[in-house]
Amino acid sequence: MAADLACYNIADLRLRAQRRLPHGVWEYLERGVEDEAAMARNRAAFDAVTFRPRVLRGVHAIDTRTTIFGRESPLPLALAPTGAAGLLWHEGDLALARAAAEAGLPFTISSASTIDVEQIAAAGGRQWFQLYLWEDRALSHAVLERAWQSGCEALFVTLDMSVPPNREYIHRNGFGTPFRLNARNTLDVLTHPRWLAGVMGRYALSGGIPSQANLPDRLRASVTKGAHPGALFKLDNLDWEEMRALRDRWPGKLVLKGILHPADAEEAVRLGADGIVVSNHGGRALDSAIAPLAALPDIRSAVSDRLTLFLDSGIRRGSDVVKALAQGADAVLVGRAPLYGLSAAGQPGVTRALSLLAEELRRTMALLGTRSLAEIDLELIG
Ligand code: FNR
Repeated sequence: MAADLACYNIADLRLRAQRRLPHGVWEYLERGVEDEAAMARNRAAFDAVTFRPRVLRGVHAIDTRTTIFGRESPLPLALAPTGAAGLLWHEGDLALARAAAEAGLPFTISSASTIDVEQIAAAGGRQWFQLYLWEDRALSHAVLERAWQSGCEALFVTLDMSVPPNREYIHRNGFGTPFRLNARNTLDVLTHPRWLAGVMGRYALSGGIPSQANLPDRLRASVTKGAHPGALFKLDNLDWEEMRALRDRWPGKLVLKGILHPADAEEAVRLGADGIVVSNHGGRALDSAIAPLAALPDIRSAVSDRLTLFLDSGIRRGSDVVKALAQGADAVLVGRAPLYGLSAAGQPGVTRALSLLAEELRRTMALLGTRSLAEIDLELIG
């Protein structure tokens, strides 16, 4: 299936995804917030970087392996947490987790997944868990315990969504939560029969559209019904003190996601975090946020090598991975790239997205004269 997908880069998968999904679902996957300036800035930051390649280095054996949290990884790349993957493909979270496991890459389970943590963990491979906190914190603590028991190695706490972001398009498209058919979205859904049958139809056969799968049964809402009191995410009262308590509670690796200021990065070190993700949430939170690639050098000098530095937001090519590593990242996360593959063709589409990125990374390294990730540094940028 993946082999006959005539998609030769992430942009091809993106086009396929756009054709297959109803407009409202597509915009949920693709769009940023407000004027989408952060999204544009994320790409512009990568596009502005050029290389000064070295030659005659004997690049017949390229080694892309690295170590993340003390364990070997075939690539400096992991799948970012992305909620509602189940709207893009039937049981999309499982397809993502399986493709990641097959590629040997870590997969981050989202708090907002439509399949519960135990089922996703059963897909195997190396898994991390991303946390948004519910208003009733006891619910979150119970889910953390389940994530740990299921074998999740790291906890990623997302910090850049303290209030709901300004997604004006949701109102325009009539694709809000709870999801209901209405005058604005019915035609959209009906004119995408493959999605309607392949995603919604299959859920309808198995008892309805799942949502908030990580909550206990009694509190679980469906996408069509809306949430119970206490079972909504509440992040505006989160502070460093609560983060210290989480550090004490979570026995595994702790990563703070959504850091852009060097002072916060230093605070993360003091807290005892094992990593941070330099991220603006793919341009989906604060529209005037700095591009993570631009924020990276100052953050790297602030933390030195005291924690693992991930970067995400805007990665669409293997060369982007090299640009992030050259400027100080240890590894990157990808959000939309695998989701384009998922929406285009399910699990084989995700596999295709990951292997395209891996191939491009290897080719870029060879053309730069870098044989291993350790040889990627600032000297290559010019
Ligand atoms: C996200 N992201 C996200 N982050 C998070 O911490 N929890 C979540 O549930 C989600 N959900 C989510 C859904 C969708 C559809 C997208 C596109 C993104 C953000 C994600 O983890 C990551 O930070 C960005 O996607 C990275 O940018 P790129 O790779 O999409 O450009």
